[in-house]
Amino acid sequence: MSRQAVLERFADSIPLIAPSMLKCGFGNLHREVELLESAGARMLHLDVMDGHFVPNLTYGPVVIERLRELTELPFEAHLMISDPARYADDFLKAGCNLLTFHLEAVPEPRPLIEQIRGKGAAVGLAINPKTPVESLEPFLDAADLVLVMSVEPGFGGQKFIRSALDKLRWLRSRVPRKTLLSVDGGIEHETIAATAEAGATVYVVGSAIFDRDEYGPAIQELTGQARAHLAPF
Ligand code: DX5
Ligand code: ZN
Repeated sequence: MSRQAVLERFADSIPLIAPSMLKCGFGNLHREVELLESAGARMLHLDVMDGHFVPNLTYGPVVIERLRELTELPFEAHLMISDPARYADDFLKAGCNLLTFHLEAVPEPRPLIEQIRGKGAAVGLAINPKTPVESLEPFLDAADLVLVMSVEPGFGGQKFIRSALDKLRWLRSRVPRKTLLSVDGGIEHETIAATAEAGATVYVVGSAIFDRDEYGPAIQELTGQARAHLAPF
């Protein structure tokens, strides 16, 4: 899927719930993907951790390549890794459609943004809770998606950090309309409403989907909450 096709699909799906494949049943990925598809998921958010940028390890291109065989849903790789430029091509070859990397790892992100775009994929730029939102300002025109971490990256199931709301509001008044505004960490029924009001359009959700017995009602309820509170954009 081309960058343009992915971005159009995401734009048509706002408010977009992005299931985070961190707490899914790794013993049977085929079944998890089928369950998510029939639950109405429109994309998958793949949390990649290197044990260096964050104090946890997950999976890399080899696993994503196998996942790619199971579904046509667009893949966002959330690269919580120290050297995303070194591995970007591997993630694209594995079938990712959107690569989101961290400004803390790549303080001069333009060359990597161009590298990823040059391969036909979309690009997201993420910041951690302790990073001032103003540091994104020079790059707001360059990214397809901006992701605000609302927990310290590394683990699912943490409590939402409310200062993310101020960051979202700041970004909402500055990003171009076409730019997706994403929030990741601690998103559940109550926090999703506040993030939608603050301007988020994409909501990364782990626990509030995977801790439920049925994914369909979880995704529907979260989408409904976000839609009811979505700020104009
Ligand atoms: C955390 C990851 C998130 C996480 C979200 O480092 O980037 O995507 O899995 O999980 P919850 O929804 O449980 O906070
Ligand atoms: Zn994530």
